[in-house]
Amino acid sequence: MKIAIIGTGYVGLTTAVVFAYLNHDVAAVDKDERKLNLLHEGRSPIHEPGIQSLLEEVQHAIRFTPSVTEVVPEAELILIAVGTPPKKNGEADTQHVVQAAKEVAQVCLPDRHYTLVVKSTVPIGTNQRVVEVVEEVFSERGIQGNISIASNPEFLQEGLALQGAFYPDRIVVGANSDKAIDTLRRLYKPILEQTFDPPSEFPRPASYHLPPMMTTDPNSAEMIKYAANTFLALKISFINEIAGLCEKAEADVTEVARGIGLDARIGNRFLQAGLGWGGSCYPKDTAALLRVAAQSGYEMPITEAARTVNFRQRKRVVEKLHSTLGTLKGKTIGILGLAFKPNTDDIREAPALDIVRELIAAGATVQAHDPIAIANARLALNENAETDNDKLFFTEDVYELSYDADALVLVTEWELYHKLELRRLAKQMKTPILIDGRNVFSPEEARAAGFHYIGVGRP
Ligand code: UDX
Repeated sequence: MKIAIIGTGYVGLTTAVVFAYLNHDVAAVDKDERKLNLLHEGRSPIHEPGIQSLLEEVQHAIRFTPSVTEVVPEAELILIAVGTPPKKNGEADTQHVVQAAKEVAQVCLPDRHYTLVVKSTVPIGTNQRVVEVVEEVFSERGIQGNISIASNPEFLQEGLALQGAFYPDRIVVGANSDKAIDTLRRLYKPILEQTFDPPSEFPRPASYHLPPMMTTDPNSAEMIKYAANTFLALKISFINEIAGLCEKAEADVTEVARGIGLDARIGNRFLQAGLGWGGSCYPKDTAALLRVAAQSGYEMPITEAARTVNFRQRKRVVEKLHSTLGTLKGKTIGILGLAFKPNTDDIREAPALDIVRELIAAGATVQAHDPIAIANARLALNENAETDNDKLFFTEDVYELSYDADALVLVTEWELYHKLELRRLAKQMKTPILIDGRNVFSPEEARAAGFHYIGVGRP
């Protein structure tokens, strides 16, 4: 199938590479010259396990271009995968989605049928807005036009984007048109029936079952995306709330999570207590959902609370440092991990950024390590000169962090941190204090290595 994808961010690029691998004829449009230059050289602008090699494998089957006009008229299906960044009031900004829909409608051929699919995460009602925008452009052009519009929310998890695209739990389609549903069913056929040969880096999991394609109305499809993300966010916030009480009650939250997770109704995933969620989705989508609710005069106290608990986790780390070290003035704190989670260089809404800012504001000096996110973090933290540069250092040598440090804080659970030589780290420190913000280490081992160990929700 000839498809055009607008936007080559995490969602757009992953989708382009996967559909090209599945033998669709893919064109991907982006206005960002930097990204296009990289893509033309065969280099991925995003860091995502497996994407570079898959991109190289399918490069001959994808065309990257800045021009909607060049690729949309010939396409059968057009996917909008542009960003919907948060506005100051939390609302998701859909201007790029609307703009993309306009551009598509401007170049569609009047005698052809198209399916236009919104993949970006958008507030409920956006699909309807896209329908109106397309009709407005058609009437300006004085043509009838023939477009079916659908919503197909994306559940991409960074770090697992390709795995999730080849082996999704489900595909959700919101559409009022049978034609659109048929086209999407053809698009996803190789995935729905798992008829493709798995790429070597992404073998089909033995326990994988064929995914259902659920069809529904567009508003419900848009709501499914927000509800799914909010539910996962509140599951994590719930275990973090329990973790705080475990600290008071001398219980161990990792044991509690294991115990409740064994109940099949609860499930053991997304129950890892720690520094909470960051990234481009949960913070933004929970805020956007609250905005949608507020606009309807509806209160969502559970969603509000999930956010409160989440952002409190970041402050609690600094409080733990305060109560162990007394003042933070003049103290040196090592930060292990800057990315919002492992296997990505994405630092959007990363807990580490808030923690670094708080520590510096409290008079501490911060040394930070991350295997791949230093460049992005440096940019984010130095922007607006909000952080005092004399108090913030980055190092690519993880052991350098501990020299004369007063405490270490593990913020992101990178695989390499699991294997650190704790004894060596502890020896180099002024005071061997380890705040394990993701409960990566065994408290016994950390203590045996000489650390004063403080986890999250562990006695
Ligand atoms: C999420 C959803 O998983 C995905 O379906 C949606 O499309 C976009 O949002 P992502 O933001 O990439 O994906 O990351 P995810 O793996 O869900 O983790 C989000 C945050 O939650 C990370 O900061 C992670 O550290 C944190 N987390 C996750 C926990 O604190 N505890 C957990 O048990 C799981």
